[in-house]
Amino acid sequence: MLLRVNKSFDTRVEKSSRVLEVAESFGLGLSDKRFVIYEDLEIEVNDGDILYITGQSGSGKSLLLRDVAQQLREGGKNVISIDEVPLLDVPLVDQIGSDTREALELMSQAGLNDAYVWVRKPSELSDGQRYRFRLAKVLESGANVWVADEFAAVLDRETAKIVAFNISKAARTRGATLVVATTHTDLTKYLGPTLTVEKLYGERVDLTKYEWLPA
Ligand SMILES: Nc1ncnc2c1ncn2[C@@H]1O[C@H](COP(=O)(O)OP(=O)(O)OP(=O)(O)O)[C@@H](O)[C@H]1O
Ligand SMILES: [Mg+2]
Repeated sequence: MLLRVNKSFDTRVEKSSRVLEVAESFGLGLSDKRFVIYEDLEIEVNDGDILYITGQSGSGKSLLLRDVAQQLREGGKNVISIDEVPLLDVPLVDQIGSDTREALELMSQAGLNDAYVWVRKPSELSDGQRYRFRLAKVLESGANVWVADEFAAVLDRETAKIVAFNISKAARTRGATLVVATTHTDLTKYLGPTLTVEKLYGERVDLTKYEWLPA
């Protein structure tokens, strides 16, 4: 599916006295202009693709990820976003998988390998543990498009690489499309993306297509 992305904002701000002070001190123009982040960016996203979006904080990764998710949804795909995964206030092992074996398998694939964690409730976990549990729920969902913003961003980089490798493998096995965004650029080798999108300053975007040989 060929997606076209346009995103811009007007620069209008509320002119409070402090805003005016900042504008004057830092030479910031407050006249209304367009702040263009994406202009007619074309991206081809097909079933089974792995899309890796990187770029500095504030460059436009989340905007792109949300737009891609929305367009795929409108195109009839079943899209799950990690931010929308509801968590119940019961032990992890009781809210995933059809039985204990499957529960542990899904959590292990998402990088949660600790029995101590399996019996905890989400409110008793660290951010990184909760993130991995949400990923496990994404794996379980049966959706055809998996979307994860701040992908593995809260994990130590060794765990992040393992999780990236496992999720990518799970997506390939299930034929799911994977769309991730993070400022970390160290996951290419582990995700094996079919397309990387690096958002640069202004409207600039670097697209790299990869042809990976099947393992
Ligand atoms: N509603 C809005 N009005 C004006 N500007 C906006 C609005 N929403 C986002 N922006 C601007 O768009 C830019 C891109 O935002 P985005 O959330 O996509 O960044 P990001 O790359 O995901 O950053 P981070 O790594 O910090 O999550 C930011 O500079 C932000 O200020
Ligand atoms: Mg973001």
